[in-house]
Formats: sequence, C-alpha cells, structure tokens
Amino acid sequence: MTYLVTDNCIKCKHTDCVAVCPVDCFYEADNFLAINPDECIDCGVCEPECPVGAIVPENALPDEEREKWDEINRRVSEWNINIVDQKDPLPEANDMDGVPNKYEEFGIIPIKDITNE
Ligand code: SF4
Ligand code: F3S
Repeated sequence: MTYLVTDNCIKCKHTDCVAVCPVDCFYEADNFLAINPDECIDCGVCEPECPVGAIVPENALPDEEREKWDEINRRVSEWNINIVDQKDPLPEANDMDGVPNKYEEFGIIPIKDITNE
C-alpha cells in the first residue's frame, strides 16, 4: 500500500505535505509533487495536510485510476528531485483548485525543462 498524489495537485503544489513526511519521499515536478510508492511507509499523515485533497490512499481509487496515478507518481519520483521543505504554492493555485482533468489538459512538466531554459 502507498499513498498517491493525484490530479488536483497539478498547478497548485501547496507543499504542506512535504513538511510532515517522516521518510522524505516526496519528489517535485514543475507543476506537481509525487510520492515514491516504494519509499512511502503508508503512515497517512500527509493526507489531511493537503489543502486541496490531492493525496489519497491507493486503495481508495478505482483500478484504472490507481494504475494511472501509481505510474505517474513513480515516473516523477524517478526524476529524483527530492523535496523536504515547504515553500509557497504556485501563483495560480487558488484559481486551479478543483479544475477537472488537469493531467489530461496540462500534463506534468519536469523541473529540469524549466531550469535548463
Ligand atoms: Fe510520507 Fe506517510 Fe504520506 Fe507516505 S503516507 S508520503 S510516508 S507522509
Ligand atoms: Fe500537492 Fe497537496 Fe502536497 S497540492 S504539493 S499534494 S499539499
């Protein structure tokens, strides 16, 4: 079992979650944060910290959604940009809260695509 970050984190990235994780298993993309499913110890303390409800236990998702978000969280974790300190949310966070299907519309952008510009 693991917890997974899901759609509503995209373009919000509040980062309250990273401050409480006892094993520092959050990884950062430009517009999203991910949990490494292999490092998460399933403690659950991050779930209530997310102000936009983006963190869920994997077994709360229907099969197709669980597979999709497991793959996305793994892929972002493999980019290996670990984040352990909270920082300001993205400027558009309030406007983007609750916008449906953000992954399909915006995708997930690696930080290195921004820093290499
Ligand atoms: Fe970290 Fe616990 Fe959240 Fe897993 S469930 S990401 S170990 S705070
Ligand atoms: Fe994302 Fe919520 Fe953490 S918006 S960065 S999962 S606090």
